[in-house]
Amino acid sequence: MEKNEKAGYDRRGFLKGSTAFAGVAAAGTLLPGGLALAQSGKVKVGLMLPSTGTFAGLGAAITNGFKLAIDEHGGKLGGREIEYFVVDDESNPAKAPENANKLVQRDKVDIVIGTVHSGVVMGMAKVLKESGTLWINPNGGAGAMTGALCAPNFFRSSFSNWQTTHALGRVLKSKGHKNAVFITWKYAAGQEMMQGFKEGFENEGGKLTKELYVPFPQVEFQALLTEIASIKPDAVVAFFAGGGAAKFLKDYQAAGLKGKIPLYGAGFLTDGVLDAVGDAAEGVETTLHYADGLDTKKDNAFRLAYAKAYKLQPDVYAVQGYDAGQLFAAGMKAVKGDIGNRSGMIKAMESARIDSPRGQWTLSKAHNPVQDMYLRKVVGKENKVQGVAWKGLADPARGCKA
Ligand code: BEZ
Repeated sequence: MEKNEKAGYDRRGFLKGSTAFAGVAAAGTLLPGGLALAQSGKVKVGLMLPSTGTFAGLGAAITNGFKLAIDEHGGKLGGREIEYFVVDDESNPAKAPENANKLVQRDKVDIVIGTVHSGVVMGMAKVLKESGTLWINPNGGAGAMTGALCAPNFFRSSFSNWQTTHALGRVLKSKGHKNAVFITWKYAAGQEMMQGFKEGFENEGGKLTKELYVPFPQVEFQALLTEIASIKPDAVVAFFAGGGAAKFLKDYQAAGLKGKIPLYGAGFLTDGVLDAVGDAAEGVETTLHYADGLDTKKDNAFRLAYAKAYKLQPDVYAVQGYDAGQLFAAGMKAVKGDIGNRSGMIKAMESARIDSPRGQWTLSKAHNPVQDMYLRKVVGKENKVQGVAWKGLADPARGCKA
């Protein structure tokens, strides 16, 4: 029943039509006198994440975190059970529209949760804007999603790429560094993190003297490390993540640069990889919206529950997945499970205050978290919090007209 009714419903209509009509139309069944039956049955959640390739571990942590949040509600939101539909996006932008359509057209999901890679985010955005499907992005930081392409049905529980490195400018300045080199993968995430850092550092009077790129997902760093050794900058700033980050940290040490030229980064450089890199990351300082040792009631409870459920320590990706679940739960609670009440869902989600393991956050007008950026330092196997590098940092949402 649900399938046929949904196929006939113009999902974009909720933006144009009256709230009452959109809610009733999506709920589907009209009773005599104009009363509507609330939606029943399972809510279909599409998980579009990488389960293969260099970001596979990130996809797994996001899935774990998301499911933990749902399980904390007894596996039901607004009284309705959750049914999962899973697509491995392989972190492959070329396949992103086709993969998103598997969830939207074939599986007819009610909401999409995904993904990790910024290039894949861009491919999803086109499909999800057209279909109007609710979307919570639990990682991929592509600025356009909450910038030029922002939309009422687009939400993020993570960060914009710009946010993750912007505060580093202050950090480097406070350490007395006057110039720096940025090294990263050549794709949207790397380029936008470079830009966020450049703006932050140059606002403080610093100079970004060189941008160095390797194609994604290559991990051949030797030639660029040799170049860094010859440039001798005051500092190096890097964005890599997952397996690529682990390889970079080890290569930086093997090239003899560790201890000679201080290494900084967006926190992804050292999150979720410390078990794999020995002492190669020791002392590396990064900025990110999560850290080890926050020692808050919420974070301690989350870490305990995560460790109990998965026999693993959570990382930032697990937190972002968990918060995607919390944001979804806030919407479902407000509409009492009637996810077809789209304006109700959107209103509740955009005004939610999320009690996150990272600390409380709210959404900007463009639906991107406004959040504290921590300075962290690798100490043993932890990204130990050193303080708040930027309180309540909001993405500038350039180009967002919604
Ligand atoms: C991205 O592509 O947006 C991304 C991937 C891994 C970690 C952080 C950002």
